[in-house]
Amino acid sequence: MKILMVCLGNICRSPLAQGIMEQKINKYDLNNTIVDSAGTADYHVGENPDPRAVNIAKKHGIDITKQRGRKFSPNDFKKFDKIYVMDHSNLSDISSLAEDGNYLEKVDLLLNSIFPDENRAVPDPYYGGKSGFENVYQLLDAACEQIAATLKQKQ
Ligand code: 4NP
Repeated sequence: MKILMVCLGNICRSPLAQGIMEQKINKYDLNNTIVDSAGTADYHVGENPDPRAVNIAKKHGIDITKQRGRKFSPNDFKKFDKIYVMDHSNLSDISSLAEDGNYLEKVDLLLNSIFPDENRAVPDPYYGGKSGFENVYQLLDAACEQIAATLKQKQ
């Protein structure tokens, strides 16, 4: 299973989601599962994750410092089995790049894994304070835990 986490800048939410999912892959020994992340915008291509994301990850025992920002590519629809987006604008940006309608079946809002069909968004913490990052961390952790546990059951 190849999973891609997508947000706007690929420096806050999706790098955290990647780091958390890597932790879950280890926890559940999902050795045929890989995770990557990307942003719909190119503002931060090649950059380290935001220091606030790095710190919140570190606080929870996860190192995301080796990640670098990259922009989502239409080729990612072919490369990945499941594409989790953080919010509704990510969803519409990605959807507009899908040449094949079947690709859209791979895409879902990440929080639908814990709040089925509610179409909730992971709030963008970029312009907020530190508490926004803890909130985002908790949401991402709950979603990744659910996804990983479900993958384990199917193994
Ligand atoms: P992210 O957060 O999409 O969770 O990585 C953002 C990062 C950068 C910007 C906006 C959101 N920005 O406008 O540069």
